[in-house]
Amino acid sequence: MSTEIKVLEADMLDLPFEDGCFDVVIEKGTMDVLFVDSGDPWNPHPATVEKVMKMLHEIHRVLKPEGIFISITFGQPHFRRRFFSDPEFTWSIEWNTFGETFHYFFYVLKKGQRSSESEECREKTHMPSISLYHDELEGEDFLFRTNIDEMES
Ligand SMILES: C[S@@+](CC[C@H](N)C(=O)[O-])C[C@H]1O[C@@H](n2cnc3c(N)ncnc32)[C@H](O)[C@@H]1O
Repeated sequence: MSTEIKVLEADMLDLPFEDGCFDVVIEKGTMDVLFVDSGDPWNPHPATVEKVMKMLHEIHRVLKPEGIFISITFGQPHFRRRFFSDPEFTWSIEWNTFGETFHYFFYVLKKGQRSSESEECREKTHMPSISLYHDELEGEDFLFRTNIDEMES
């Protein structure tokens, strides 16, 4: 069996795809570029906020009703939460912290699974299939170590 992979270049703020066509969207360090020159991280410039919300809107739009968005980023939860948890989005939000001293964050957002305010954004303390460190991220195969099925629990 052969698997076809298509590589397309597109603007993440204006994705050339129909609504609800992907099971999974993964970004790594791509949202981070929107925060360059964003000013105070606690209160980013309106232009930054607009771009980040456009990107997230597009991702949410192209995901299937139960699709999953994975974001791998330096962005800490207190700076990402306000965007991920916008009322526009129906996804649940969980993350895992990894790395030593210099942390990375692995967010898993499941469309259609948003729950109550108090539970909507939490750190997942047990994520057995994921243990990533800097040297592994520098390699090409780290995504193959992420087992979405095991994260379903
Ligand atoms: C920090 S790099 C991360 C690249 C890669 N994901 C990685 O982990 O090595 C950020 C990438 O975002 C891309 N980028 C910036 N603005 C973009 C946009 N509006 N649409 C799509 N890609 C964009 C840049 O070209 C760059 O390749």
